[in-house]
Amino acid sequence: MISKKMVKALNEQIGLEGYASYLYLSMASWCDKEGMEGCAQFMHRQSEEERMHMLKIFHYLSEVDAHALAPAIKQPPHEFESVRSMFEQVYKHEQKVTASINKLVKLSYEENDFTTMEFLQWYVEEQREEEALMRTILDKIKLIGDGPSSLYYIDQEIEKINAKAAEAEAGGEA
Ligand code: FEO
Repeated sequence: MISKKMVKALNEQIGLEGYASYLYLSMASWCDKEGMEGCAQFMHRQSEEERMHMLKIFHYLSEVDAHALAPAIKQPPHEFESVRSMFEQVYKHEQKVTASINKLVKLSYEENDFTTMEFLQWYVEEQREEEALMRTILDKIKLIGDGPSSLYYIDQEIEKINAKAAEAEAGGEA
């Protein structure tokens, strides 16, 4: 049986994934406003993905006969200094999520909850992929430069990365 401590921690993770979904939604809107369609598409897909991450825990809790709680979501920022700073924030947030997943794995081990530990392996892998993806994007931005004349090229690159990620998802690889 899953412990109260584990349920509480998983419900907190639901909040973190839910916040990521809204943060990326807000970023999508900002990108649209700035005329960066490729980046907007990317952030919309990421936002959907985070919602899926949230729901996966939600359903898991129900499956183990625990109470999944719909989270209170803090309003995310609406304005971003630049596309580079926006992606830096995404990367930082993903690192925070990874640290939180690692804590959950540690807790599941301490609680002898190997069912939850097994369930969390999917997130461990997912975080490795997400961090790698954000690093790739930041490297590209550094390479292209993020002055006004570079934005068009950045947007095109992100559009390509997004198409690839969507393709991988459709193939069940993401
Ligand atoms: Fe669900 Fe990107 O962390």
